[in-house]
Order: sequence, then C-alpha cells, then structure tokens
Amino acid sequence: MCAASVANVPKIDVSPLFGDDMEQKMKVARAIDAASRDTGFFYAVNHGINVQRLSEKTKEFHMSITDQEKWRLAIRAYNKEHQKQIRNGYYLPIPGKKAVESYCYLNPNFQPDHPRIQKETPLHEVNVWPDEKKHPGFREFAEQYFWDVFGLSAALLRGYALALGKEEDFFTRHFKREDTLSSVVLIRYPYLENYPPAAIKTASDGTKLSFEWHEDVSLITVLYQSNVQNLQVKTPQGWLDIEPDDTGYLINCGSYMAHVTNNVYPAPIHRVKWVNEERQSLPFFVNLGFDDTIEPWTPGEPDSKTNNPAISYGDYLQNGLVNLINKNGQT
Ligand SMILES: [Fe+2]
Repeated sequence: MCAASVANVPKIDVSPLFGDDMEQKMKVARAIDAASRDTGFFYAVNHGINVQRLSEKTKEFHMSITDQEKWRLAIRAYNKEHQKQIRNGYYLPIPGKKAVESYCYLNPNFQPDHPRIQKETPLHEVNVWPDEKKHPGFREFAEQYFWDVFGLSAALLRGYALALGKEEDFFTRHFKREDTLSSVVLIRYPYLENYPPAAIKTASDGTKLSFEWHEDVSLITVLYQSNVQNLQVKTPQGWLDIEPDDTGYLINCGSYMAHVTNNVYPAPIHRVKWVNEERQSLPFFVNLGFDDTIEPWTPGEPDSKTNNPAISYGDYLQNGLVNLINKNGQT
C-alpha cells in the first residue's frame, strides 16, 4: 500500500496569546480559525512548556512502574475493588491482547474536602498516585504539569474565542482551576518483539491501527507526542498523515466545540495507525466544569441561533466517554 499524503497542519506561534497586544492576538486567532475550518489540526509552537522534561519524566515513570503497582493503581475496569476510579488511575496492558497502557490523572484540586468530591458528583475523583519512594518527584512533577498545560490551554481558548468573534474570556470563564474536569493521560505505546496480532485492528481500507477512528471527547485537545508518525485525519481527500513534531503541541477541537459552534469548528475525525515503536502520546483533554453550559450559536451569522440544544459539560462528558468506550473499546 502506498503512503498516505500529508495533511496541512500549520505551525502557529501562540506566544502572543499570553500577552496584551490585541493586534498580534487577532493574527493568531485568524490562523486558528483557518486551521479549524481546514483539517482541524495545528501545531502550537512557542508554547512555553518544557516538553523535553515532560517526555523524560514520563519515560522514567513508564519504564519503572511494576505490574504490582499497576494493579494497585488500576481503574475500576481492571480492578473491581477500585469502585471510585472510573477515570483516574492505571489502564493496564494485557499480554498477548492489548499493548497500550496509560496513567490518567485529574484536577489536583479534587481533594477529599472538595465540595464535588463530598457530594460524589460523577466524573470527579481524587487522584491515586504511585508510591513516592518508588517514584520520587513524579507526583509533584505531574501536578505541576497539569497547571502548566492548563495555562497553555487557557491561552489557546482565548485564541479560539477571538477566532469565533467572541470576547476573549468566552471559554475561559468556564475553565477554572477549582473545578475543571480536564485530564492528563500519559499513554505508552511499546515496541514489542512479538507484537500480538490481537492488539492490531484493521480499518476498512486495510490500514493497521492501534485506535479506530473517533472524534475527541473534549472542548479542545492539547497533545504532546513523540517524533513518530502515527496519526491520520479524515478529509474530503481521504485519510491524510499528520506529521509528528515533538517540539510543539498538536491542537484540535473536540465534539463539544463542534456542538456549540454548530459545526463551524468541527471535531476532526482521526485515528491512530499501528506502529511498532516505543513512543509516547500525552494528551490534555480540555474540559469545562460539571455545570458549565455554552449556549450553541452559529459563528459569523448576525442572529446566530441554532436548533442545537444547550448541553451541560457534565452531561456531555459522561455520555461522550461511555460512547467512546462502547465504540472503540476499553483503553
Ligand atoms: Fe483522539
């Protein structure tokens, strides 16, 4: 099979979104707008995050965690004793069946005394962490990373708001440190000498995949990946390869953005090709708070009502996560 063509994924210098020069910010916004209406993906560069350190710390963690620790941290789907860990914790590999493994954590402010934890509101969980003695400094690093990528995401959301002709804080007023439902997922795709055939899916066009086509369940997704080509985006020209760039963050809209913008900014359909290489995929799923609701509208139209119903972020996220597992399987 011949190699797929390459998708247009522009590199956008997002540094003006951290400053006050409105003219510069509008330039960035126009570039985000163009990318969102084209393939739906762009690379944020000059983002201010030390991604090399992120990659190193994550590698240390992935390579030193033992099977026993994975069970102790396992989400409910893998360990029935962990009833309160539906989202956060370890997602195990299954030898001979499932190669990918990951560790997911949520807002570090979700502590036992947080009102949403007290009320046991769905989607809110207190993170479980590996033993500090076995992984010194990992928790501190990971929690700080949550806030670093939160800050980058807030800047990006200011850019999206301007791109859509809204006030700069249109999204960020619903993206708050105290209650954001965002998550970091540290995904390890291993190199395996004998890759189990059961861990490789085949798409209808014959392409070997690690994860089938989907839209992201998020407002936007802010993704760091190793320098290994794997993603493809569906376009009117067919499936196109997204070139890797391990210095930037790959950004795309999720289906909540598509819903509230009446699909003016669609959630691009993408998939993960199967590649037998040791690599990392470290997404930050930008989620709002449980009761936050953005009223859908049609950007660019003067009286811009749509028939899309207003959906609270909590309802959206709960349904979206369940539907994705039902469609593509347990990760
Ligand atoms: Fe995705």
